[in-house]
Amino acid sequence: MIVIAEPVEMQRLALAWRTEGARIAVVPTMGALHEGHRSLIRIARARADRVVVTLFVNPAQFGPGEDFERYPRSFERDRAVCETDGADVLFAPSAAAMYTPDHSTWVEETVLSRGLCGARRPGHFRGVATVVVKLFMLTQPHVAVFGEKDAQQLRVIRRVVRDLNLPVEIIPGPTVREPDGLAMSSRNAYLSGEERRQAVALRRALDEAERRFAAGQRDVTALRTAIAETIRKLAPAATVDYIEIVDNDTLEPLTQVDRAALVAIAVRFPSARLIDNTVLRPEPVC
Ligand code: PAJ
Repeated sequence: MIVIAEPVEMQRLALAWRTEGARIAVVPTMGALHEGHRSLIRIARARADRVVVTLFVNPAQFGPGEDFERYPRSFERDRAVCETDGADVLFAPSAAAMYTPDHSTWVEETVLSRGLCGARRPGHFRGVATVVVKLFMLTQPHVAVFGEKDAQQLRVIRRVVRDLNLPVEIIPGPTVREPDGLAMSSRNAYLSGEERRQAVALRRALDEAERRFAAGQRDVTALRTAIAETIRKLAPAATVDYIEIVDNDTLEPLTQVDRAALVAIAVRFPSARLIDNTVLRPEPVC
């Protein structure tokens, strides 16, 4: 595996691979790699001749007062992980190489980005969409793998790819969890021991919504209340940022789960903000 820091060098190599007829997969990450990232690298490996993992803590997707400075950075460990998992290139550019001081071009998806995390983190998805398109231009992928853990991000990226006619197939990877159900996240490292114990509340709350849905509950208010109650009981240290049940494709709010619905939650602990989600699918009526 080689490590590349220079964007033009990355692009030159990717274009040479394309000339040889190689199929390229990219896995964009911000590093501090865990089993969730590794599962995406394995999906990429199975689908392409060349796998590029990108490692870039993208300043453009962090708001003022967010955790850009303290975001966990573990380059040597990440390099070893990528090597073990069979990446061909670890592309790790500097912020200065990715954004010139007079950078003035942005990719903005304007509908799916509006609610959920987009409403609480203004500019976040503009930063994500911009860097992902830049990473696609630099790595020239045929396929790109993104985690279902970041459900809104996955939908925004699919929309950008569709709307801008980018020749990249987006492959979703299922959420990888800790044994107690907590979705793996680089931000879990921020949690204190007690917060970590309480963080299981997110998955338990989604379990509760799934259970009630399976028992026939279709009312969104009732499902949201059940989620809020579970979080209140199991995670007294946390405050709810949002609990939303929205159309799985358009992300429009629902009042009844009468079609595939994304249940997305965000919870703030004193040390970290965590997100999780599940999809509820009513049986097709025939
Ligand atoms: P990061 O949070 O590092 O996540 C990189 C990829 O790993 C994303 O596609 C994310 O959805 C996926 N991922 C994270 N936790 C996961 C889990 N537990 N199971 C499966 N996949 C998981 O998301 C970003 O970085 C950035 O926004 C990025 C897309 C790289 C743009 O900067």
